[in-house]
Amino acid sequence: MVDSIEYDLIIVGSGLAGLRAAIEAAKTSPSIKIGVISKVQVMRSHSVSAEGGTAAVLFEDEGDNIESHIYDTVKGSDFLADQDVAELLCKEMPREIYQLEHWGMPWSRRKDGKIAQRPFGGYSFPRATFASDKVGFFLMQTLYDTCQKFDNIEFLNEWFVTSIIHDGQQFMGITAIQISSGTFYQIKAKSLIIASGGAGRLYSFATYAYSSTPDGLDMAYRAGLALKDMEFVQFHPTGILPSGILITEAARGEGGYLINKDGERFMKRYAAGKMELSPRDIVSRSIMTEIREGRGFMHESGVECMKLDLRHLGDEVIKEKLGAIREISIKFSGIDPAQEMLDIRPVCHYMMGGIHTNIDGATELKGVWAAGEAACNSVHGANRLGANSTSECIVWGKITGALAARHAMSGKQSSPFPHHLVVLEEKRIYDGVFRGQGEYNPYEVRQELTDIMNDKAYVFKTESDLVDGLKKLRELKSKTWRHVDDKAKEYNTNFTNVMELDSMFRVAEVVLVGAINRRESRGSHARLDYPQRDDANFLHHTLAYYDPKEPIMKKHPVTITRYQPVERKY
Ligand code: FUM
Repeated sequence: MVDSIEYDLIIVGSGLAGLRAAIEAAKTSPSIKIGVISKVQVMRSHSVSAEGGTAAVLFEDEGDNIESHIYDTVKGSDFLADQDVAELLCKEMPREIYQLEHWGMPWSRRKDGKIAQRPFGGYSFPRATFASDKVGFFLMQTLYDTCQKFDNIEFLNEWFVTSIIHDGQQFMGITAIQISSGTFYQIKAKSLIIASGGAGRLYSFATYAYSSTPDGLDMAYRAGLALKDMEFVQFHPTGILPSGILITEAARGEGGYLINKDGERFMKRYAAGKMELSPRDIVSRSIMTEIREGRGFMHESGVECMKLDLRHLGDEVIKEKLGAIREISIKFSGIDPAQEMLDIRPVCHYMMGGIHTNIDGATELKGVWAAGEAACNSVHGANRLGANSTSECIVWGKITGALAARHAMSGKQSSPFPHHLVVLEEKRIYDGVFRGQGEYNPYEVRQELTDIMNDKAYVFKTESDLVDGLKKLRELKSKTWRHVDDKAKEYNTNFTNVMELDSMFRVAEVVLVGAINRRESRGSHARLDYPQRDDANFLHHTLAYYDPKEPIMKKHPVTITRYQPVERKY
């Protein structure tokens, strides 16, 4: 008999979206029992590493306005954003900034005492609200503290969720392993919010925590839910070498320059209007074009790069406004940015794709919502603007928290709990993975998988690279790596690592197949063999449904309410 526990609402993921959802659910229904389950301790969620800002219109009296935030988001998305969704984000955010402030968020201030905002890429107004360059850490602390005020929010830290249980019509529960004891559980619930974050560790050069693997996306995919727009992977222009740790866009927002080997601010060739504060897709392509045309620096690690020059900002500004990246540069690269230029290169930073939802974060399965980076409600289309991600987590954490709570408290589930599915899942993971046999080292296989993604599906893509990448991925998948050498019951991270790898293969395949099929260039998806955007054939979202042979790909319409697509110029 499998151990069993029960909640009304279970939230998978304890980052910004998960915590904001828990708070809203607890406020919506004081008697609801909420479980927040995560494979890491709350404050180790990857959200803590968000650096530069949270976008919102705060100063209409000084010239900003909601319409401009909506348009910047839609233009930044290369017109693939669902425009009603972008509108909702921009309208909801100002209130959330003040709500967070009331919960204790220490936003940085201007000299006049008002909340400070800084410029970020692709915006027409300085609209990134910040707390030095540790926005994620302070937001997480604020939300976690606020969660403590509610007796009905329980944290299940260090649990690995393996599957969604449903009866074909509605959500019934999940299965999970408590990592500390190694015990396999069924967790019954009436509502589920998936807020498990992004999957950027599909790439070897990434700003993400090592825990950012696609387990949450994959369990939804295996349960029959669609993954949407997975071919749109964002490369942030400034990952520091050699580690790839994020150097925030705020460094350029505060006045930093990008410099090539000839000492030029090369962005003038690509986007003379916005220069270093162009959207990320454009800055990343510009860097890679400079490198391809021979104007890159050679880093000692053997890769080419550009330089980020912050020296003119001075020690004081760097310490006050960019303290975290100063520390990162010194500790991880041995460079003080007030003294020397930093070596940077585009780095995997965000996935615009995720679990397909509607504007409310509802998935195609009754009782299941998704929020934050795990979701794709299409707010960012083909390219997200910096600082719109923490905003997205807050807004859809709130929306899905309220809706999922109401659903959970609105009545009983009609059909009996399908115990046989729990038994099948137990067999899948214990017979298929834990007791698996094989000669290939899963850690080496993971490295190979992430290298394939880096080599074949980086900033610029071609059909031949993508097809070759998919072939290599499938060959690697067929090798015998699905085994666990550590037989311990407690804290068996070898076991969870192999399950992470299992999920990485399925989701990486969706990224590559989506990228092969999209024979155009749009936002972050830049095809050297199809350099133009092609609205006649590709102004649509991509849906991928799971099939054991290969993903089943479908098209989904884009919602255009206000702005017809035009050429993007900055
Ligand atoms: O550059 C940054 O601080 C990243 C922000 C974001 O991804 O929104």
